[in-house]
Amino acid sequence: MGNGIWKSGAGKGRGQPKGRALDDVALEEVVNLLSSQVLKRDMLIEYLHLIQDEFGGLSAAHIRALAEVLRLGEAEVFEVASFYAHFDVLAEGEMPPPLTLRVCESVSCEMAGATALFEELAVRHPELRVLRAPCMGRCEAAPVVAVGHVHVVQANDTKVKFAIGAGLALPDYERFEEYRDGGGYRTLEALRAGAKTPDEVQELVLQSGLRGMGGAGFPSGRKWSFVRAEAGPRFMAVNADEGEPGTFKDRYYLEREPHAMLEGMLIAAWAVDVEKVYVYVRDEYPEVRKILEIEMAELVVQGLIAPEFVEIRRGAGSYICGEESAMIESIEGKRGMPRLRPPYVAQVGLFGRPTLVHNVETLHWVSKIARGGAEIFSSHVKNGRVGLRSYSVSGRVRFPGVKLLPAGSTITDVIEACGGMADGHVFKAYQPGGPSSGLLPARLSDVPLDFDTLQEHGSFIGSGAVVVLSDKDSVKDAALNMLRFFADESCGQCTPCRVGCEKAVKIMKNKWDKPLLEELCEAMVEASICGLGQAAPNPILTVLRYFPEEV
Ligand SMILES: Cc1cc2nc3c(=O)[nH]c(=O)nc-3n(C[C@H](O)[C@H](O)[C@H](O)COP(=O)(O)O)c2cc1C
Ligand code: SF4
Repeated sequence: MGNGIWKSGAGKGRGQPKGRALDDVALEEVVNLLSSQVLKRDMLIEYLHLIQDEFGGLSAAHIRALAEVLRLGEAEVFEVASFYAHFDVLAEGEMPPPLTLRVCESVSCEMAGATALFEELAVRHPELRVLRAPCMGRCEAAPVVAVGHVHVVQANDTKVKFAIGAGLALPDYERFEEYRDGGGYRTLEALRAGAKTPDEVQELVLQSGLRGMGGAGFPSGRKWSFVRAEAGPRFMAVNADEGEPGTFKDRYYLEREPHAMLEGMLIAAWAVDVEKVYVYVRDEYPEVRKILEIEMAELVVQGLIAPEFVEIRRGAGSYICGEESAMIESIEGKRGMPRLRPPYVAQVGLFGRPTLVHNVETLHWVSKIARGGAEIFSSHVKNGRVGLRSYSVSGRVRFPGVKLLPAGSTITDVIEACGGMADGHVFKAYQPGGPSSGLLPARLSDVPLDFDTLQEHGSFIGSGAVVVLSDKDSVKDAALNMLRFFADESCGQCTPCRVGCEKAVKIMKNKWDKPLLEELCEAMVEASICGLGQAAPNPILTVLRYFPEEV
């Protein structure tokens, strides 16, 4: 796009474009807003955020003006804007919405009374826009409401009122100096100075047994070797999208010790020799974004990274953008549609180049392993399983939160680490790893909650988002909640997922038609492109298998 400050009026002589006429005022506003930017196509979502933050929504005139400035089709900008839930695309003449309250409707929040809270807030605040929204990654303090960008936890109307007009508050986290004083970045510096070769560090990571904490569990050292085997230039993308309902471990770590992830990221970037790193942060985590902005600026000041080596990209409210190829599309400024594989992103990823994608927590462990040795991770052995897991636990336990336990822990261990069941609740069922993992019965209480241990039970551990249900909860309602989520978040690219999720929701609202649901699930598992559609049937199939009497 070039180093472009767009001159108002330019382009008018190029023959009148089809569609909406260019609005001079809107064009000037967009030009002014982007005047300090080097215009790039892949920054489209960032520009949409800038416009929406300034004007409260995305009017047709601004979309047209942005298309003009970027020399894109208006339809292209519109389809990106309308793909993401957090963009308010305004109809002709429509005013920007008032302050928005988003009431989290995930299973943990619903169990904590979110539905009644939503209704109360809608009645009490007719002057505001009250929406239901997917998981906000704060499930340990359900129910949660976002007031604009400010999150209210254990929300009630009084707390929400208090939060209206309040600004963003950063948690008390470990700053650069503190991390540095504790020996931080010494490992990175030593590696850069030649203390070990990339092969040696890769081997160390392999020996530790570290596997992808984003959910897929791919051995991290092996992934490095695949990306390294491809000719450069290579890129890296850090996945801080954390959209799987019930998961909040990445936020937990970034809000406490962000430099552990940042050093791990730089070690991986060094080992794989990447040109540039993109950190994709979900829009629901503005505090995390701010922390990363502050601390990454400090890394530049300290000479640990070049000014443009790492770029933060802001998501815009789309669960599917956590899937790595969809995230890459989103970083490129497009709709978050998963790509068909092969080729894998390790071969053809960002901007067509080999790309190393890692989850936040994986990189958190990379720095600890690089500094403390493989044993930091591999010495934890339980029930024959090796390593550690950060379980995000919510639901009917006394003290929900992130529990760092051996990877071979069972649900009994996890509940114990949470101080037992909440008063008055009897353990009945659990979601072991996000809605994609379905629901297991209490009697499966001795299965290690790790990669590869839950498959035979029709489930998997994924990102370790554990929700504990009690005798007061309905698994039928929980499964419906999960399928509603998938129906809302399906990118719509393939029919079995798009139509299957919606049809399943319709059937599940009534008496479950088992043969029909099973047929539907089979088609979704077999014919969906990505993990969303393939795993969406799990809540249905596990409830049919373990709780037939309830449906
Ligand atoms: C539907 C779907 C959503 C996903 N969401 C996330 C996410 O929010 N965060 C994440 O790190 N990985 C997520 N993943 C997994 C990523 O595709 C990818 O495996 C991961 O980021 C790789 O990093 P890792 O090897 O360090 O785990 C998701 C996968 C699927 C299929
Ligand atoms: S399975 Fe669903 S989310 Fe994944 S590509 Fe297909 S429609 Fe999109």
